[in-house]
Amino acid sequence: MALKQIIDSRQKMYAYILPKNAVIAELGVSRGHNAFDLIIPLSNPKEFHLIDDWKYGNSCSRSEGETLNAQEESKNKASEYPNCTIHIGDTVEVTIIENTLRYLIVN
Ligand SMILES: C[S@@+](CC[C@H](N)C(=O)[O-])C[C@H]1O[C@@H](n2cnc3c(N)ncnc32)[C@H](O)[C@@H]1O
Repeated sequence: MALKQIIDSRQKMYAYILPKNAVIAELGVSRGHNAFDLIIPLSNPKEFHLIDDWKYGNSCSRSEGETLNAQEESKNKASEYPNCTIHIGDTVEVTIIENTLRYLIVN
């Protein structure tokens, strides 16, 4: 499937399933394409928790440098949004505010 088709189908899915102004999290953020180009514009979360360990070997990046660049890119983008919090760590170990999270996006 071409990248454009994947993005179009994700857009449709998120527009359909994501609540507006909710507390949500994405497990596995990488460079944040999904988070910043799709999830934020489509759902305008009240709180958005972005969780990734950005650990080379675990990630889809081709090198350690690329993994660190992906983390920097996401941190920089997140700093522009007061509703975004970056959590660096294993998704299993990172604890998220209990009883407030409605949606988890795993990609
Ligand atoms: C396919 S990439 C995510 C792509 C992103 N969701 C997007 O569409 O733009 C998967 C990400 O999951 C992260 N990841 C994989 N296993 C993880 C784990 N156990 N804890 C935290 N992050 C993990 C990797 O570091 C990588 O950045």
